[in-house]
Amino acid sequence: FFLFFFKVLQGAAIAGLGVLLNASRPSLPRVGARGSPRAPGAALPLPSRRYMGAVGSSRVMCDNVPGLVSRQRQLCRRHPEAMLSIGRGVAAWTAECQHQFRRHRWDCNALERGQRLLGSRESAFVHAISSAGVVFAITRACSQGELKSCSCDPKKKGSAKDSKGHFDWGGCSDNIDYGIKFARAFVDAKERKGKDARALMNLHNNRAGRKVGVHPVECKCHGVSGSCTLRTCWLAMADFRKTGDYLWKKYNGAIQVVMNQDGTGFTVANKKFKKPTKNDLVYFESSPDYCIRDRDVGSLGTAGRVCNQTSRGMDSCEVMCCGRGYDTSRVSRMTKCECKFHWCCAVRCQDCLEVVDIHTCKAPKSAGWTSRT
Ligand SMILES: *[C@@H]1O[C@H](CO)[C@@H](O)[C@H](O)[C@H]1NC(C)=O
Ligand SMILES: *[C@@H]1O[C@H](CO)[C@@H](O)[C@H](O)[C@H]1NC(C)=O
Repeated sequence: FFLFFFKVLQGAAIAGLGVLLNASRPSLPRVGARGSPRAPGAALPLPSRRYMGAVGSSRVMCDNVPGLVSRQRQLCRRHPEAMLSIGRGVAAWTAECQHQFRRHRWDCNALERGQRLLGSRESAFVHAISSAGVVFAITRACSQGELKSCSCDPKKKGSAKDSKGHFDWGGCSDNIDYGIKFARAFVDAKERKGKDARALMNLHNNRAGRKVGVHPVECKCHGVSGSCTLRTCWLAMADFRKTGDYLWKKYNGAIQVVMNQDGTGFTVANKKFKKPTKNDLVYFESSPDYCIRDRDVGSLGTAGRVCNQTSRGMDSCEVMCCGRGYDTSRVSRMTKCECKFHWCCAVRCQDCLEVVDIHTCKAPKSAGWTSRT
């Protein structure tokens, strides 16, 4: 599924729809970044006509995206703008995956290279974060007025109460329910085809990913000199980093499962461990060590990866390089230094030359290994 969206982007380009991506408002907030401040009562930005009009060729685009199952193709034709929102979200959740795995041998880069994964913990994480990413992308697009089929949450109207007292719903509340519904229909469509262990695992992790999300209520105070006697509040999605951090914890606590006798579900593999809940990530297969390059298991190997000589963790040169040793090169680079604050209001820095040692893992000696770069 994850791979599919790299294809969507390609697909859009192939179909000559690259112009669609340009026709959107110039400063479209990244998925994961805070949206433009939505002052209570502020009008929704209207989707540009050009953008909506250009989507007429959705049939061409949807038919050209490889790897869609028919239900997904239908959704693509019905909601071509949603596909573009998701396409833009891919970069954000790929970056988040890479951030979370930056100190690990498996660093989430294999995905961009079109590699497959075993039914491993890493696969569980990828499914959950892509699924969360679709919820995020669609919900954000609803709030930005980019989709015909949704807008701000219509249920967040009137007054309500929280620990600080009464408030009025106002502005634009993120329509997370819609995002979840869309993600379920679209992302899960692929798995409904198969009823094997892998499909069950993917569905479970997709669902766990959709359910994440810290959704704080943000408020603005009104009243005499900000006395906050009146409050207007709206529901906002938290930064995508929070989702990444949460799923990272779930990845570390992921539970290995085995298929039931009757093949309708799974149970925990080791009875000593707790049963997975709906919020836990589950996996069937143990991860490979990811030391050497092996396409079949989604491993790029760690040759050429930068390691940390003083660390004792996963990014240490011993662990990262799998005992093969590392090369050290001295590089000099310019950095900003001796920055001074000048009244008012500028910061001026010097350019300093910094010399650092970079350690990179050696390649295994075996034949048939091809360089990563
Ligand atoms: C999109 O915009 C960029 C910069 O404004 C431009 O270089 C590029 O050619 C545009 N692409 C299309 C398909 O219009
Ligand atoms: C290397 O690891 C040490 C110890 O964990 C840490 O303090 C340091 O910032 C790391 N260096 C880099 C370049 O990440």
